[in-house]
Amino acid sequence: MLTNLKPQPADKILQLMQMFKDDPRDDKIDLGVGVYKDASGNTPVMRAIKAAEKQLWEAETTKAYTGLAGDPAYADAMVALVLGTSVERDQVAAAATPGGTGAIRQGLELIRMAAPDATIWLSNPTWPNHPSIIKYLGIPMQEYRYFDNETGGVDFDGMLEDLGKAKAGDIVLLHGCCHNPTGANLTLPQWAEVIALMQDMGLTPFVDIAYQGFGDGLEDDAAGVRMVASEMPETIIAASCSKNFGIYRERTGILMAVGQDKALHKVTQANLAFLNRQNYSFPPDHGARLVSMILTDDALRADWQAELEEVRLGMLDLRKNLASELQRLSGSDRFGFLGQHRGMFSRLGATPEQVETLRRDHGIYMIGDSRMNIAGLNAKTVPILADAIIKSGI
Ligand code: LMR
Repeated sequence: MLTNLKPQPADKILQLMQMFKDDPRDDKIDLGVGVYKDASGNTPVMRAIKAAEKQLWEAETTKAYTGLAGDPAYADAMVALVLGTSVERDQVAAAATPGGTGAIRQGLELIRMAAPDATIWLSNPTWPNHPSIIKYLGIPMQEYRYFDNETGGVDFDGMLEDLGKAKAGDIVLLHGCCHNPTGANLTLPQWAEVIALMQDMGLTPFVDIAYQGFGDGLEDDAAGVRMVASEMPETIIAASCSKNFGIYRERTGILMAVGQDKALHKVTQANLAFLNRQNYSFPPDHGARLVSMILTDDALRADWQAELEEVRLGMLDLRKNLASELQRLSGSDRFGFLGQHRGMFSRLGATPEQVETLRRDHGIYMIGDSRMNIAGLNAKTVPILADAIIKSGI
């Protein structure tokens, strides 16, 4: 049987992680995988997570199973964090999942069960694991234009034109904030236009929000998804706690299905629990419990928000410094978009050959499509990167 297996294509992000590890150069710079790093290159455990873990260690008396959809307190806390007061709690079915990827996978399975003829529309570009999972599940997909390479911003006319070709019942996958890989985001008026188009055409939004708090702040980053959830008849949402709580390896995510028709809530919730049971039974609890402890305790929450804000402002500073260093070296504004982008990533707009030159000649690692993880920089490496960008002819 095993002889039938074929080699699988390597995941480009994870492959680059390994190449970076294997590079013996001391001055190499990792702008690859989307993991936050502080100025010393460490990915720290957040203070509130450490404190909550200590409390949990003292207080936890059992490791018996939770519910199939996870701990209800986690669902309540996450629905409030992502959706605020945009919808009522009993409009949202929610189930804990292993990370944001688990939520995407479960969301896609839900879509396949409920809308077997739907095509999923993906931004071009998008996180490479989106099309990979969709293809694996055998769901048809199409791309809509999203990024304008010339301006480094959103090709909004192209996006609307392409989505205009969807058929009623299709699904539109949108990034809630901090678009991965480009860093270029929709403005609120643009969200409103996309909502109007989806309403007119009978499309259903699937919002992936993995970086809430990394862009313009916890509330602003959720403004688009909240508008969608309150105005569309139905919205699917995959949210991740990996980045904003820094608990990557705990695999903490949540799938939400929002419906204006409250009569559907019970059966939707039962389907989310069913899907968990089919795939892994009970979702992981440790990270989810820490998240709900933090979100429901005033002191822990205040400390978490303060640290998250430090992280966000640090990344914004790095962006601004890189943009101004590039302006100085190039004598032009052509890299100004780096200061406009939000979140962990920016797409530089370099060719694959130029990305390869950066790696080979300067030990600078970014994804082949020239996605950079801004958090991989620090005050010392910003000028080194800027210099290498100019020397590589970008
Ligand atoms: C990324 O885009 O680098 C992260 O979301 C990590 C991953 O799993 O790809």
